[in-house]
Amino acid sequence: MKIVFALGGSVLMPKEGASVDKIKQYVEVFKKLKNKGNSICVVVGGGNTARQYISVAKEFTNNSFCDEIGILATRMNSMLLISALKDYCVKKVPENFKDAELILNMDKIVVMGGTHPAHTTDAVGASLAEYIDADLFVVATNVDGVYTKDPRKHDDAEKIKTMTSKELSNLTIKSSIEAGSSSIVDPLASKIIERAKLKTIVISGTPEEILNVVDNSHNGTTINP
Ligand code: UTP
Repeated sequence: MKIVFALGGSVLMPKEGASVDKIKQYVEVFKKLKNKGNSICVVVGGGNTARQYISVAKEFTNNSFCDEIGILATRMNSMLLISALKDYCVKKVPENFKDAELILNMDKIVVMGGTHPAHTTDAVGASLAEYIDADLFVVATNVDGVYTKDPRKHDDAEKIKTMTSKELSNLTIKSSIEAGSSSIVDPLASKIIERAKLKTIVISGTPEEILNVVDNSHNGTTINP
């Protein structure tokens, strides 16, 4: 199976910073999936590094330049994962899909970050999944699925087990696209998922849940085309 993961930066790089053990756990998971014969791409988010830099830079500059700072954070996180995946990767963070596909065709795991301002790595992941004709797009984040409302703000939010890509678009369309903003799936990503008819799963980004996507035993939300 050809799988693209959008791995939230806050999952890989929590507030307390990176840890060797945590990175090792993710490395084992992606190696395992690759060794089972899957083609793997991981688009890594900027997490707290991006958010911290953007929150300060916002006082001085526009959203677009803040986005560029965020993109650098996503590439730094990517380099960290690449350093630990060793021979499973090449020592390069591709900055476009042509380069990503070349790396995939070398039978390596692709690890990349952001590309252009005004969206997040969710949109990069969805777009890459479309470009390489992936079988599955997985959003591995710090919420365990898509909810009717933001569960971090509303106690009565309910998790949605399955939904259509049109329903996802309708739910996320009002989300902000400001630099550093955070919604379960960014609105552009939702639109790409819809147009590309991508089978998509939104899960909690724990190493265990990432492994569960292959046999569909995850506890997240499945988005059907
Ligand atoms: P993320 O993709 O990490 O945002 O990009 P996120 O989803 O809010 O955070 P996590 O990682 O899931 O916790 C961080 C920021 O970098 C810029 C945006 O400002 C985004 O909010 N960015 C990222 C871009 O402008 N373009 C990209 O392609 C990627």
